[in-house]
This record gives sequence, structure tokens and C-alpha cells, in this order.
Amino acid sequence: MKSQQIPRPPIKVLFVCLGNICRSPMAEAVFTHLVNEANLADQFEIDSAGTGNWHVGETAHHGTLGILQQKQIPYNGRARQINAADLDYYDYIITMDDSNFEDVNSIGKGRAEVASLLSFAPNQQLTEVPDPYYHGGFDKVFDLVHESCVGLLEHIGVGA
Ligand code: 4NP
Repeated sequence: MKSQQIPRPPIKVLFVCLGNICRSPMAEAVFTHLVNEANLADQFEIDSAGTGNWHVGETAHHGTLGILQQKQIPYNGRARQINAADLDYYDYIITMDDSNFEDVNSIGKGRAEVASLLSFAPNQQLTEVPDPYYHGGFDKVFDLVHESCVGLLEHIGVGA
């Protein structure tokens, strides 16, 4: 008899930065890509949001879209702002820098585990993903995001 997999609810992951146009959409796209490559798409629900509302409804920054296109990773999300309900809805809320981390925690306390993305790349000296909106460097940010997303997927440990 064929062994049956017990269906389980998807693991919900929300990536958060300030504007939701540079770093968190990149992380959302990269993590989704890794999940798809591992044939785990049906086990995850993945999104991103900003702590600020300035860019709500906009596509990702051309720097983020450019590096994703170069790496052949699709992305077509639009910016949205995080809200209090997200803290209960998501299992993991993954922030890009210390100020995002503080801002998310200041919204309230929910079920979600709030963690910094770079905590999943322990070999990196950096603890915050630099914001390329001000200084560029989308390729370096991509490398940081990619390494951390690999670590995050290992941390969550689905499919083992
Ligand atoms: P992100 O970058 O937080 O990585 O999306 C930023 C995008 C926009 C702004 C700041 C940071 N802004 O001030 O509009």
C-alpha cells in the first residue's frame, strides 16, 4: 500500500523591511525560489511587507527586480504595510535590520516568531541587511539574502 502523507497547514513566513520595495521583496522572491526548488511549495505561504506605508501598491525597486532577473528568479509582488493581524497570522516574521525588528515588536505581541534574517547566516559578520535604497549594492544584498534564506529553510526544517 502506498504510504499516505498527513496533510499539514502551510508554514507562513513574512519578510519585513522598511519600504517593502528593496530588501524584503528580494527575500520573499529568493525564499520562494528555494522552496519551489525543494518541491515544498505546497507547504509554505510566503509574503513580504514594510513597516512604512510610503510605497504601498508599488512594484519592487528596479534594483531588486534587476538582480532577481539576473539570477532568473521571478517576482511580481506589490508593496504592502505590515499590520497587527500579521503577528498572529504568520509563524515567522523575518526582519532585515534592527529597526525593523524593533518596529515589528512595537506593533504588539503575537504568535509569530520574530527573527532577524541574518541570524540564519551565522558565518556573516553583519547582523543587519544594509538598505540598498540609499547606497545601492543590490548584488551584495542579494548574496546576504540568499545565504540567509538557505539557512532559514534549514532552520524551519521541512521535508526531512
Ligand atoms: P527597503 O528600502 O526597506 O529595503 O524597501 C527602502 C525603501 C524605501 C525607503 C526606505 C528604504 N523610503 O524611505 O522611501
